[in-house]
Amino acid sequence: MGLTRVPGLLFGGDYNPEQWSEEVWNQDVRLMAEAGVNAVTVAVFSWSRLETAPGVFDFGWLDRILDLLHAHGIAVDLATATATPPPWLVRRHPELQPVDAAGTRLEFGSRQGYCPSSPVFREATVRLARAMAEHYRDHPALVMWHIGNEYGDHTVECFCEESARDFRRWLQARYGTLEGLNSAWGTSCWGQHYTEWTQLAPPRKAPGPVNPAQVLDWRRFSSDALLACFEAEREVLKEVTPDIPVTTNFMSLLHHLDYWKWAAAEDFVSDDAYPDPADPQAPVKAALSYDLMRSLKQQPWLLLESAPSAVSWRAVNVPKEPGVMRLHSLQAVAHGSDGVMFFQWRQARYGPEKFHSAMLPHGGTDTRQWRETLALGADVRRLAEVAGSTTRAEVALLLDWESWWGLEAPESLPSDRLRLHGLLLSWYAPLHGRGIAVDLAPPDRDLSGYKVVIAPNLYLCTAEQAANLAAFPGRLVVGPFSGVVDAADQVHEGGAPGPLRELLGLRVEEFWPIPDGRTQDVLAQDDPARNSTRLTARTWSEWLELDDAHVLARYRGGPLDGRPAVTRRGTVTYLGCLLDDLTPVLDEVLDAAGVTGVTGAKLPPGVEACRRGDHLFLLNHGAAAATVPLPASGTDLLTGRRLHGSVVIAPRDAVVLKH
Ligand code: GLA
Repeated sequence: MGLTRVPGLLFGGDYNPEQWSEEVWNQDVRLMAEAGVNAVTVAVFSWSRLETAPGVFDFGWLDRILDLLHAHGIAVDLATATATPPPWLVRRHPELQPVDAAGTRLEFGSRQGYCPSSPVFREATVRLARAMAEHYRDHPALVMWHIGNEYGDHTVECFCEESARDFRRWLQARYGTLEGLNSAWGTSCWGQHYTEWTQLAPPRKAPGPVNPAQVLDWRRFSSDALLACFEAEREVLKEVTPDIPVTTNFMSLLHHLDYWKWAAAEDFVSDDAYPDPADPQAPVKAALSYDLMRSLKQQPWLLLESAPSAVSWRAVNVPKEPGVMRLHSLQAVAHGSDGVMFFQWRQARYGPEKFHSAMLPHGGTDTRQWRETLALGADVRRLAEVAGSTTRAEVALLLDWESWWGLEAPESLPSDRLRLHGLLLSWYAPLHGRGIAVDLAPPDRDLSGYKVVIAPNLYLCTAEQAANLAAFPGRLVVGPFSGVVDAADQVHEGGAPGPLRELLGLRVEEFWPIPDGRTQDVLAQDDPARNSTRLTARTWSEWLELDDAHVLARYRGGPLDGRPAVTRRGTVTYLGCLLDDLTPVLDEVLDAAGVTGVTGAKLPPGVEACRRGDHLFLLNHGAAAATVPLPASGTDLLTGRRLHGSVVIAPRDAVVLKH
């Protein structure tokens, strides 16, 4: 079963017919059919063209394009069109434009300018969503709803008075009493004791560092405020069209929104992914966020937007070299996407995205881009049977948004160099290089299905989360600066690792960040064979005092000379520092747990291997041909070749082996 009633994988992109004449529409649908496009996203930014005055709807043009698409066998991911409030609404209600932390109200003229807490905005979006749902409920082209667009892009938060009121309501619901809030926020510090709810405000720009507990609640609130916008529309859509699945396009590993919570409100997860072609680590970063998308609901997801070639919003927008669009698209499918969708179908001639690539470029059909679009469409059709299949991972990386927000709170930590994305990648990259399937998981989920669980960092860790980790029977690895604070960002009594102390068998007496550019030697301790392996710590170290953990590695030289750096208690490993090379720790844990890569053999550099259902995806991101031993014979779905023993994969080429 796919995500929608469209059979096979979805292939298509955002389509903005309102930017083109109807003559061009006819050409578009013909070319879409030629390329094998079976789905397009329509009406994302169409509010001003659909509701031209309050309550005055003009669906005529959208009816015509939906009919035309349907006549050509193309399904529609229909946006509720609420991403950009129209000028008439903004001019009548200037208060719905967002205000930044310094109190400046932002102007109209871009997109996604709205205060998430504005009742006027929310009511207007719900009215439009209802009108759309009632109008299109029986349209045969409609296969999914696309609510809003990239929540958290442009507008992450709003600091206006309306938001302040909403924030107070949210705080009242969380804490009940001012006493509870004062205690949770630690307002005895710096004289912030509140005596009336009306004194509470968003963490606006202040003379110095703002209370980090206030900032943490603000992050929670801001994610919830946007989610409330999504949910208000969702409710209407579910009432009018209960059988049409609902999603919104996520933005990969986005700091601002708690996607565990968001995903629970969707029928399926979809994502917009823009790996930078100029970044050699792009495939690994993309794989990490794709695995997150697959993990969010533990089911297939949809790559709803990606760039056929260059984007237009980086300082330097490098195109994708021949073959890279295909390779990156297949990578998303390998990691669980049930389709390959792009921004956008036809390259715009005006607006801020006129230089953003498209499936059909300015140059038309006699272009490399168009030829690659056609070829990719054919490949996507060859992979139709992959739709709906799932991946089983034995390793999980823990990710918790609240902890992430706490870890990256401004101006209050021993070091601001610990960034969660980098910490996740430092573990993910070597796992990916070994062809090991990885899930992301929140620390409170049942983890018993995994053999290895790694918490790169769990700065904020509650007693319940610690108990969940303690109940995990497999191999657990915990990274530094974990178990430091509780849900209110208050340091656990006795200091780190707080509720993890018994599990880790140690306490952290002092945090010892390493200045930029300096390193700290670390030597493996107990294994004489490893004594020659000198490891390097950078950025972070800790003064550990052991209860009943034993030492795996110690610092050599420097302020912590001779003290424990990496420890073990039972099946739990703790790293008190950030190691440049995690290989020795990882190899040992994976061996002990019996976890191997999906091919069962070492992968050549640059080759990625993923299993999805009965299919083994082998992707060569490298610049040289690679020979990959095959775990079993099978047929390559992309070429129809029968393969045995091993396969040579050209640079930027891929094999999808069906056993
Ligand atoms: C996001 C947005 C699109 C477009 C692309 C450009 O995915 O949703 O509307 O702006 O970025 O990369």
